[in-house]
Amino acid sequence: MTDQSKPDANRVLIFDTTLRDGEQSPGATMTHDEKLEIAALLDEMGVDIIEAGFPIASEGDFAAVSDIAKQAKTSVICGLARANFKDIDRCWEAVKHAKRPRIHTFIGTSPLHRAIPNLDMDQMAERIHDTVTHARNLCDNVQWSPMDATRTEHDYLCRVVEIAIKAGATTINIPDTVGYTAPRESADLIRMLIERVPGADQIVFATHCHNDLGMATANALAAVEAGARQIECTINGLGERAGNTALEEVVMAMKVRHDIMPYDTGIDTTKIMNISRRVAAVSGFAVQFNKAIVGKNAFAHESGIHQDGMLKNAQTFEIMRPEDVGLAATNLVMGKHSGRAALRAKLKELGYELADNQLNDAFVRFKALADRKKEVYDDDLIALMSETASVATSDHLQVKFLRVICGTEAPQSADLTLTVDGTDKQVTATGDGPVDATFNAIGRIFPHTARLALFQVQAVTEGTDAQATVIVRLEEDGKIVTGQSSDTDTVVAAAKAYVAALNNLIVRRAKSKPNSDVKSVNYKDAG
Ligand code: KIV
Ligand code: ZN
Repeated sequence: MTDQSKPDANRVLIFDTTLRDGEQSPGATMTHDEKLEIAALLDEMGVDIIEAGFPIASEGDFAAVSDIAKQAKTSVICGLARANFKDIDRCWEAVKHAKRPRIHTFIGTSPLHRAIPNLDMDQMAERIHDTVTHARNLCDNVQWSPMDATRTEHDYLCRVVEIAIKAGATTINIPDTVGYTAPRESADLIRMLIERVPGADQIVFATHCHNDLGMATANALAAVEAGARQIECTINGLGERAGNTALEEVVMAMKVRHDIMPYDTGIDTTKIMNISRRVAAVSGFAVQFNKAIVGKNAFAHESGIHQDGMLKNAQTFEIMRPEDVGLAATNLVMGKHSGRAALRAKLKELGYELADNQLNDAFVRFKALADRKKEVYDDDLIALMSETASVATSDHLQVKFLRVICGTEAPQSADLTLTVDGTDKQVTATGDGPVDATFNAIGRIFPHTARLALFQVQAVTEGTDAQATVIVRLEEDGKIVTGQSSDTDTVVAAAKAYVAALNNLIVRRAKSKPNSDVKSVNYKDAG
């Protein structure tokens, strides 16, 4: 199959936009290395097209897209560009290194979106013709999207889709930008376009759904039933507002219900759990416990009736096997007597392949945890590895000592020593509860104006000695940074997560100096 030819009739292409639409979600910013790591995992799992970023948005986005293009083995590497030559040229400069590059250009076509660049219908049609032609002169694989397609007048949508096809677009993506459509309407729209637009049989129709009404997966699958052959999605459904269609949901739906949805993808589903965990860790967006396919409880059977049924025949309550999505069948418990080799093997099973120095670091942290916690479960190790990933950017600030006094009598107080660039600084501060007191102490040692945008605590496993994972998100001048930490002591985890976020803030401030990695353009400003 060439990049342009249509795939087998029932083959559905998976277009992953975790690194573009997902990363665009406020607070989900990933570092350069994290983007490269996620792209490599997507490539390995068989994603057909990776949307690696929006090259004109910043130097950082450009560098990430071009480095992903250089490293990609099999996947098509795509970059996003608004409907102007400058964006498209910049996009091409980044994706051209790929074995299989694609330019994705778009413009908002609904009445509300047409008003933004202040173009009338004819002017917009001309812009579409010119920009798609320009993109096609650079790259033979061009995707075009009429943003907010589901709220665009049908006649106008048919007109502009026809123009884009004639100008050389090889994929036409139909976005439900605001998550407004419903399954029947999603299918009818694709069917209408296939029936009415000349040349529709020469291109691939894609569906791109947002989850504002919780229907993104259903809408994407309905579009496929009507003839779309590319689904745009993200790992864990990451994305702005309520997120995008979740890759794991559409892929597993078509696999498990192949009897009624006889469509195939190239995804190795056993890689799903690992990439889900990595995306959760690097984005700082924890997966909800009852999330379909990848939630912690998705394969847990707690009630007596369910457990009894499961023991007699797993299919009683299980429509897919945990192994099918890469969930280890056993939850082998590790403890303080487990050695380095056992840890390496266990981490490998969980999807972490570590170099020797990384293993040494993980082992020291594992031993410290095993000293405090009798049994170390898979989830504890995943939390430990997530923390390692999230503290990697810098260590200007480090928590050296923390003791809190708490109880029924307010105020609570925190005695804290932070090491700041090698020098110990100690304060005692009070607050409304131990976490507040600790954060006040951190603020006194390292004064800043960043706003606490999120403080999230999650128990990693069950039991009173369970670790807590804390995620802290800070916002300064519209930019968001995240810190994550796990500890058997919730207040210590909170302090470390806060300090990790501040370290990321320090790095971000340094990068925000002129000519650095700042998102300076808004992709919604599509004109
Ligand atoms: O949701 C949307 O419309 C988009 C486009 C840029 C394709 O993400
Ligand atoms: Zn989108």
